[in-house]
Amino acid sequence: MRKPLMAGNWKMYKNAGETTAFFEKFLPLVAGSAHADVVIGAPFVNLPAAVAATAGSKVEIGAQNLFWAKEGAYTGEISGPMLVGVGCKWVIIGHSERRQYFGETEETVLKRTLAALEYGLKPIVCVGERLEERESGSTEAVLKAQFDGGIAPLSDAQFGLITIAYEPVWAIGTGKTATPEMAADAHRYLRSLVAGKYGAEAAAKTRILYGGSVKPDNVKGLMAQPEIDGALVGGASLDAVGFASIVNF
Ligand code: PGA
Repeated sequence: MRKPLMAGNWKMYKNAGETTAFFEKFLPLVAGSAHADVVIGAPFVNLPAAVAATAGSKVEIGAQNLFWAKEGAYTGEISGPMLVGVGCKWVIIGHSERRQYFGETEETVLKRTLAALEYGLKPIVCVGERLEERESGSTEAVLKAQFDGGIAPLSDAQFGLITIAYEPVWAIGTGKTATPEMAADAHRYLRSLVAGKYGAEAAAKTRILYGGSVKPDNVKGLMAQPEIDGALVGGASLDAVGFASIVNF
C-alpha cells in the first residue's frame, strides 16, 4: 500500500518567526501520526528556520522551486545543493502558479526535476488543467502533454523517486474542490500514463497527491478514494491546527 503524503505549500506566506511559531503548535499535533509522511514547502529564506524547528520530528521540509544549475551567474536563483545544504529534503516543481506567472514549461519542469534528483532532493511534480481546458473536454490531453513533456523523459530509476501532484488549476485557492470522484478519475488517468511508460509495478507504487482547496472538512472524502495518495495543501496548510487535522484525516 502507498503511504499517504500530506504536504503543505506555504507559497509566499509567513516570516521566520511565524514559521517557528507554526511548528511549536503543529508538531505535537502530528507527533503520533505514523500513518502519513508530512512535508512543509516553505519560502526559501525561511527554510533554515523550518529545518531547525522540525529537527528530530517526523516532519520534513521542502522548497517550492529550484534552479537547475549547480551554481553560476544566475542572479536571484537558488540551486539544489544550496537547498540540500540547509537541510531541505523535498522540492515542489511545476506548480501552476509558476507555470502561470513565471514562464514554467514542460521543458523547465523536466530540467528542475532532473536537477533535484541529481542533488538528492525528492521532487513533487505538479500537473493539472485550467478551467477552460476542463470545460472544453481537454483535461486528459493536457495531463498527457504535461506527463509526456515534463515527466516521461525520466529514466525508470529517476521516476521511482518522484511524487506527482494533480492540481486542477480551477480548484487552487478558489474554494472549488474537485469532487472526490473527479479527482479520482484524473488520478486514474495519470496512473494509466505511468503504467504505459514505466509499467504496472511503478504505477502501483507511485504516490499521486491531490491539490486544490483541500480543507479539514473535505479531506476525508478525498482520502477515501483509493486513487488519492495524499494532498498538496496551500491555504489550509498555514494554520497549525487546521493542517494537523488534514494530516490526521
Ligand atoms: P489551495 O492551494 O489549497 O490554497 O487551493 C493548493 C496549491 O496551490 O498547492
